[in-house]
Amino acid sequence: MFKSFSFFLKNFKRKWSTTSEVIFYGASKDFVLLIETLDILLTKKLNVNFIIDDYKTGSYEDIYSLNDAVYQPDGRVSPCKRKIKIVKSEDFFRTNKEKKNFKIITTSDANKNKYFQKLVDFGFKAQEDFFDYKEVASLLPLIKDNKTHIWRADIMLTEKCTLNCTFCNMYMPHFKSAKHRDLNEIKSDLDKFFNLIDYISIFHLVGGEPLMYPYVNEVIEYVGEKYRDKIGRLILTTNGTLTPKPKTIELFVKYNLLISISDYTDQVNYKRRINKLLESLETNKITFSIRKDINWNDFGHPEVVKFPLEEQVKKHFKKCTAPYKGINKGRYYFCHLNTSANLAGLVPDNKNDYCDLDKIDNLGLIEHDLGFLKLGYATFCKNCNGCNTGIEIPVGPGKQGIRISPK
Ligand SMILES: C[S@@+](CC[C@H](N)C(=O)[O-])C[C@H]1O[C@@H](n2cnc3c(N)ncnc32)[C@H](O)[C@@H]1O
Ligand code: SF4
Repeated sequence: MFKSFSFFLKNFKRKWSTTSEVIFYGASKDFVLLIETLDILLTKKLNVNFIIDDYKTGSYEDIYSLNDAVYQPDGRVSPCKRKIKIVKSEDFFRTNKEKKNFKIITTSDANKNKYFQKLVDFGFKAQEDFFDYKEVASLLPLIKDNKTHIWRADIMLTEKCTLNCTFCNMYMPHFKSAKHRDLNEIKSDLDKFFNLIDYISIFHLVGGEPLMYPYVNEVIEYVGEKYRDKIGRLILTTNGTLTPKPKTIELFVKYNLLISISDYTDQVNYKRRINKLLESLETNKITFSIRKDINWNDFGHPEVVKFPLEEQVKKHFKKCTAPYKGINKGRYYFCHLNTSANLAGLVPDNKNDYCDLDKIDNLGLIEHDLGFLKLGYATFCKNCNGCNTGIEIPVGPGKQGIRISPK
């Protein structure tokens, strides 16, 4: 709809200048993190009416009890004290479709396309009556309080891993000579990124296997000391094969990290190792979540082009909810799968897919983060099935080793 970011922003400003009533669509963990973030960033808090949701109804005294996936307050962020009511979509659409004196914010990646379609079917207009939460998350703090907020970014510490999952979304088996990243380069990336922003809701330390990285302590300490106040949730994701050293544990505690453990033990045999990690985290009262039933999808063979035509790939890009943003070598990539595929040498580098953190300003970063790329898509989208695009090929971590080359 909007080809240029400046028109998009102008329109957003106009639409939100007088808005006081807000309704959310999707009682998800993202709703909770969004409202918590906006309460922290906005001088004048939003007036939340209710949430529309098809799977849950009722009233919640404490939004953090909405579901098990919600990020709990971690002792750093100010907990959000709102109560919330949830109504079913059929009730909402029956009674409210005529009076559109409110804005709707969709708050679900998994259901985004479905919710958008439903809203359109009932006569609501995108960027007029309804908005996606990532747009609101960045643009509302910008226009109301001149703050630069990015929803989430990921930084890869190492290309090495203890496992070799065939369908790994970071394409680990495809790295011919996987390397640990240079510590000074990581520090420089962190400085460049954090100097541009005021706040980020989720900052993610990832790999490969981040606990394999020899300077993981140095990175945690660097982020913790310099930038922890700008971060909502500081997350490290591990496959649970390694037990952190005592110093690492100490830093997890000191800087309130949330450890996200991908538990693949139903498919890969390392139960004893994961139990050791869990024991260590429990003993030290470190917040962690175990993710056992992660919906793994085959993103496609990274060297096979599936969407060769421009129009096809633009449509595909519009549907993709691309959650992972990559920070690497002074660049900010719209999609971390793209970053990994470049690093593994699977697809060529393309200036369209990233912005140089040295050369852009805060507005340029937000523009890129919201998907305003020169081509209208990231070049790797031609090869990738995407996230929540409707292409779902369930796979799991059980299969190990590189997949067969199409060539
Ligand atoms: C690439 S891994 C890196 C961290 C760590 N080695 C691990 O496996 O948890 C980061 C996250 O991506 C998820 N992931 C990897 N491949 C995936 C796929 N094909 N589909 C969905 N999630 C995937 C993992 O389960 C994990 O939660
Ligand atoms: S998904 Fe598997 S191969 Fe990829 S980083 Fe995690 S454990 Fe390693």
